[in-house]
Amino acid sequence: MPDKKITIAPSLLASDFSNLGSAVDLIRQSGADWVHMDVMDGRFVPPITFGEKVVSDIRKETELPLDVHLMIEHPEMKIADFVEAGADWVTVHSEATVHLHRVLSSIRQAGAKAGVSIVPSTPVESLFPVLGDLDMVLIMSVNPGYGGQRFIPFCAEKVKVLSCYREENGLDFRISVDGGVNPETAAVLRQAGADVLVAGSAFFNAESPAAMVDRLRGVGGGEASGS
Ligand code: DX5
Ligand code: ZN
Repeated sequence: MPDKKITIAPSLLASDFSNLGSAVDLIRQSGADWVHMDVMDGRFVPPITFGEKVVSDIRKETELPLDVHLMIEHPEMKIADFVEAGADWVTVHSEATVHLHRVLSSIRQAGAKAGVSIVPSTPVESLFPVLGDLDMVLIMSVNPGYGGQRFIPFCAEKVKVLSCYREENGLDFRISVDGGVNPETAAVLRQAGADVLVAGSAFFNAESPAAMVDRLRGVGGGEASGS
């Protein structure tokens, strides 16, 4: 597989919410590419995190792309709010809405890039009909809702299937993976065809977040050093 630059998206979920400004600064200083923001509603997943107000406040703090992952039921009700708040990428769960194709169109019409995510138990083939009408697929490699969980190995196979399908059909969406990403699982995912890696605990618990970004990308001499 030819070398390509992997996008690294640290997840604010693993940061201290009383100090989000410095978490965003740390992401910028580390050389990471996007800020991943996990919106949870207490229904689609048990926890509640934050809504569009936090996205709009973070928007004022950084020029990095905001990668908003909506773990909420009926995301169609909230697309306009999150795009207005400054989300560059809006990802909805296929399990959370009936009219997925319509929701994806509405994200693009509102002016953001459209993503869809699936939980580990959802077959990736269920997304084939909409792959020509979206900008990113986010493969969850843990059951969503919490940071710091262990990577579920069979999810890497979905990345491979998706990457092959993309190539065979001349499509150009990105493949992102979220959950349990660390230097070891990142190597497997890069090999499988992932373009974007989301990392919460691996990034925020690292002694050197900048070195962790390189290790997740698989560049530099950081592979052998500690985290
Ligand atoms: C979990 C969230 C993830 C979470 C990942 O539902 O979608 O973005 O922050 O955390 P780690 O990288 O610790 O598994
Ligand atoms: Zn996420």
